[in-house]
Amino acid sequence: MNYVFIFPLFFTILFTILFKYIWIPMRIQLHFRRQGVKGPGYRPIFGNSAGIQRRMFAEAESSRSVSFNHKVVVERVMPQYYNWSKVYGDTFLYWFGSKASLALSDPVMIKEILVSESGSFGKIRFGPALKLMFGDGLVALEGERWVVHRRIANKAFSMERVKEWVPEIVDSIRNMMSKWDATIEASNKSEFEFDVHKEFHQLSGDIISRTAFGSNFSEGKRIFELQEQQSVLVLRSSRNIYLPGSRFLPTKHNKTLWKLEKETTKLITKLIEKNKNTKQNENTLLTAFISPSKKDDILDLKEIVDECKTFYFTGKETTANLLTWAFLLLGLHQEWQNKVREEVDRICGHNVFPSADNLADLKIVTLILNETLRLYPPAGMMVRQASKNVKLAGGLDVPTGTRLFLAMTAVHYDVRIWGEDANVFNPMRFLEPRNHLASFFPFGLGPRVCVGQNLAVVEAKIALAMIVSRYSFVVSPSYVHAPMQSLALQPQYGAQMIFSRRS
Ligand code: HEM
Repeated sequence: MNYVFIFPLFFTILFTILFKYIWIPMRIQLHFRRQGVKGPGYRPIFGNSAGIQRRMFAEAESSRSVSFNHKVVVERVMPQYYNWSKVYGDTFLYWFGSKASLALSDPVMIKEILVSESGSFGKIRFGPALKLMFGDGLVALEGERWVVHRRIANKAFSMERVKEWVPEIVDSIRNMMSKWDATIEASNKSEFEFDVHKEFHQLSGDIISRTAFGSNFSEGKRIFELQEQQSVLVLRSSRNIYLPGSRFLPTKHNKTLWKLEKETTKLITKLIEKNKNTKQNENTLLTAFISPSKKDDILDLKEIVDECKTFYFTGKETTANLLTWAFLLLGLHQEWQNKVREEVDRICGHNVFPSADNLADLKIVTLILNETLRLYPPAGMMVRQASKNVKLAGGLDVPTGTRLFLAMTAVHYDVRIWGEDANVFNPMRFLEPRNHLASFFPFGLGPRVCVGQNLAVVEAKIALAMIVSRYSFVVSPSYVHAPMQSLALQPQYGAQMIFSRRS
């Protein structure tokens, strides 16, 4: 055996491991401790997150809340933040493997990070499961290609364009309500129980399919099913540390991911091919990506496929959960349900559908949606990474590579920002001007603010107005209050509600 080569190789590997997994993390930890930032100590290679965080999530998600209480939200959706901030303060350092993560809930720092255009803060690189799910779509892209994709998407989801889609949105909701009516009639009862979480996923799926892709829910149905299965695997992987190279191993998890991705790509490619030839004149996101108005904006097939994957998922999942929580809250707070109904009847007329012109007048509807987004923000939290050494507000020095965990849900529940009733559903609070931009940021902030915000708000307003106008509803006794953070904040056991037709 040639020891001349083996010994240097062995020592190089050992040195690299010690440097990367012990020396650098220990140095970063010391750097933060010297600035007064504490946290659960680093344990070589696995950090403190793998086992402990997984256990915290498992514990949080296994507890079944007896009453419909908003107090449980932070505890259940970000247990690591809830537990560690109590011990180490609002700003603390924890570890995901050997990656330093700085948890933050100070609106001044959050605003600075999100609105910065200095290039000091970037998105974190997607893990293999997320990468297979969204590819290089808008959510993951950075740099010049992000600018091009974002320009096309901004135009496709401008308020002007979204207003043109109002009749399509109304039609989708009307179809859903006709199906509900038929179910109620067939049951020979005056009321009926629905899982609105399921219903609103179908509705949002239909609306994004029609508006962005010029098709409908049935055409997108298989894509949505595949993405649902992918999101379960993504959630599982996001709680485990990624071992370099393991994405290439033919494990059961990887094989399922590959299979799901392959079928999704195949279906989307077919959809693109079909639209290339038949729908050139339609004003959809898909045609904007296939035939952009500027020559510089031309995308290749993989880029278009990745954007379709991104918008199929983001367009359905987020708004469906916003609607789900808004209805649960209105079911719980009958006095607000009545107020919304009075407003809709006054502005639109009883059983008359909203139009693009009167949406802005639905002020109470807007208050309700904002309070829902505060208490149950679908995105839950956001993550960035320092791409150079930076100094944050208050002088905190953050070394390059540090992950920044922006604890959106915790900010939305902070009594110092919202007052002693921060845990209470009180839409009136949105009549007061906000003292800080980043005290409420359900759609993000800055250049990467949600590109689908106009569609989400218009869709949610119309759905709320139309459904409240036609039905009265209460939360079913079978509902178990268990908010859970998957890729969006959702009710773990569904959202069972009882509806009855208004005369
Ligand atoms: C209630 C509904 C929604 C909420 C709360 C929401 C929330 C967010 C948030 C917080 C971000 C910023 C993420 C970050 O900067 O890391 C974001 C970005 C994004 N959202 Fe939404 N979203 C919603 C609806 C939608 C809809 C309907 C679509 C598609 C039609 C959409 C597509 C996107 C995309 C593509 C991005 C990435 C934008 C970029 O990085 O340039 N979202 N969303």
